[in-house]
Amino acid sequence: MATATSDTADTLFAIIDAQGGREYGTEPVTQLQHALQCASLAEQAGAQPALIVACLLHDIGHLIDPDANKARARGEDARHEAQAERYLKQWFGPDVIQPARLHVDAKRYLCATDVGYYDSLSPASKHSLEMQGGPFDREDEQEFIALPYARDAVMLRRWDDMAKLPDAVTPPLSHFRHYIDAVKLR
Ligand SMILES: [Fe+2]
Repeated sequence: MATATSDTADTLFAIIDAQGGREYGTEPVTQLQHALQCASLAEQAGAQPALIVACLLHDIGHLIDPDANKARARGEDARHEAQAERYLKQWFGPDVIQPARLHVDAKRYLCATDVGYYDSLSPASKHSLEMQGGPFDREDEQEFIALPYARDAVMLRRWDDMAKLPDAVTPPLSHFRHYIDAVKLR
């Protein structure tokens, strides 16, 4: 948890440095590689700083949960997106939190609305989709996309899906510090 004297980026980077070497489920990248690739893709696309930070931190729920991989192995959904929301609330506003919170629902949305999206998912992502409730039906799909930040979540999701390349070269974590400093509330 943050203390009065700790800097937001220092606190977050300490967690990512300590836990980011973990596997990203069964994907061929670590949590750190995945976060850096996702944020880099957003940056290259010209995304706003808040969305770049959301991309960097969208899976922080996996890193603050010591049992994340065990739960996944048991076939349970640890609701990492809700854990991220609770955790990130201490520093950020909805422009960072909501795209991260909604990135799982964005997958359910894209499976329902984009022909070919499901087939493009990795086997691990197809598997987690089942645990997360499967594709949205028409009503849920419309309700989702009307939410504030749903479109940011859909963009985050597409970068998330692409951020699984074992050999991709990215800037280091420190490169993203200025985005965190620019959007943090405290
Ligand atoms: Fe992810």
